[in-house]
Amino acid sequence: MQFTVAIDGPAAAGKGTISKAVAQHYGFAHLDTGLLYRAVGMKGGDPAAAARALTQADLARPDLRSLQAGEAASRVATNPDVRAALVAFQRDFAAREGGAVLDGRDIGTVICPAAQVKLFVTASAVTRARRRWLEADDGTSYDAVLEQVRARDARDMGRSDAPLRPADDAVMLDTTDLSIPEAIRAACAAIDAKLPEKG
Ligand code: C5P
Repeated sequence: MQFTVAIDGPAAAGKGTISKAVAQHYGFAHLDTGLLYRAVGMKGGDPAAAARALTQADLARPDLRSLQAGEAASRVATNPDVRAALVAFQRDFAAREGGAVLDGRDIGTVICPAAQVKLFVTASAVTRARRRWLEADDGTSYDAVLEQVRARDARDMGRSDAPLRPADDAVMLDTTDLSIPEAIRAACAAIDAKLPEKG
């Protein structure tokens, strides 16, 4: 069975947590596509060349979750050649047998426009900054994190190639006032509604 769940949304809205939980619940493979852009950003040199030559070792770097890697990712992600170099890998992943969950910014709009389920996960900028700040715990002030979240939103939504926006047929999921289990339940309900009947 091929079944693709596309989960998009801004930084720290809860995409990663929801994607992992959903993948585990249904036994689907999961790809955090942000890691691809983070790895390109941290590799240095010409970003398009880095995207074309990405290796498993690049994706296993321990510093990919840092705020610095997130910043670097959102800069290289505005480059159309970088985006083009990463399309085939993501589409192959989505087409694998047994189901796949991909989370990112353009999965429902560009990478997998025919995905069976599209979720757009959001939360207020203040809530997301607070989550990022608690998670990072690296001495960066809350105000600086909020500033970064806002700048990243503006860059991700304002770029001309594959800007962050919900697909027309996406289910909107605002996690501002939801607990993690509530958000996961809402995502599963959207998926259950689209899963082929068993048996
Ligand atoms: O999701 P994450 O915070 O890891 O993404 C880092 C950056 O990578 C995002 O801010 C965005 O600019 C870029 N990205 C993207 N398209 C994706 C995934 C991430 O442009 N599918």
